[in-house]
Amino acid sequence: MAAIRLLLSLLTGLCAYYFYSQETLSPFKPPEMVRGKRVLVTGSSTGIGEQIAYEFARMGAHLLLTARREKQLKEVAQKCLELGASSARHVVSDMNNLTSAQNVIEDARNKLRGLDYLVLNHVGGSGRFGPFQGDMAAVTSSMTVNFLSYVQLTVSAMTMLQESQGSIIVISSLSGRIGAPFTLSYSAAKFALEGFYSSLRRELRLREISLSVTVAVLGYIDTAKVDCWFTRLPHHLSSIPHNSCYGFDVLFVPPTASIPAPSTGTESLKTRLCVQWEH
Ligand SMILES: *[C@@H]1O[C@H](CO)[C@@H](O)[C@H](O)[C@H]1NC(C)=O
Repeated sequence: MAAIRLLLSLLTGLCAYYFYSQETLSPFKPPEMVRGKRVLVTGSSTGIGEQIAYEFARMGAHLLLTARREKQLKEVAQKCLELGASSARHVVSDMNNLTSAQNVIEDARNKLRGLDYLVLNHVGGSGRFGPFQGDMAAVTSSMTVNFLSYVQLTVSAMTMLQESQGSIIVISSLSGRIGAPFTLSYSAAKFALEGFYSSLRRELRLREISLSVTVAVLGYIDTAKVDCWFTRLPHHLSSIPHNSCYGFDVLFVPPTASIPAPSTGTESLKTRLCVQWEH
């Protein structure tokens, strides 16, 4: 009992700290910072990636969308234009193939002439969620799609991102923080992302390279409802002054169960996003 009480008070303290940190953020600003910026969103034919693309579109960004399915990508690109994107292009890619990942960045170089935001969001792999059966092909495929392709995209885009003093945004999940049964390969890849990108952030800071790395740790998301609240994430990111970008560690979005009914106000969103700062 004592242990449980201790745990509870620890948790309460942590939550209070998160909300307190949140309050110290600069207030939301209009999205001018994003207008005209060049943004690549992977896995943007559906789900969270699609909604992120729409949010950048509303803020007037130049978008390059990528995923495997061309028909869906075209539709999303069209909708981005209707929402106010400065431009919206697409390129088909398969993130199980690292050459294909490299080609996406080549496309950004040729068509956008640079890159300001690299939003890594895609997920995939040959395996299915379920009891681990020792299927090595599924592990390899998950590590390739959900981890190695992220690294490949980052490596290929590094020069452009340094030139623009840009941002890398990695969409991760609770499975990258807490091991979860029946999702071993996926969880392993998400843990790898956390290791790579938190190390990269620290290394860039030590080398005084002005490039921000953000890992968004999401709980379970019903993507059909995602635009109720998650799509405002880029607003949130854009509200952070550039010189404090290095310190931006993790956006922690609690699991759906603890998220109050959707509301459109950014103020209420602010209190629903818990932010952990790296000092
Ligand atoms: C990987 O992608 C490249 C470029 O799109 C392509 O030429 C190559 O055939 C692909 N490899 C495999 C194994 O599909």
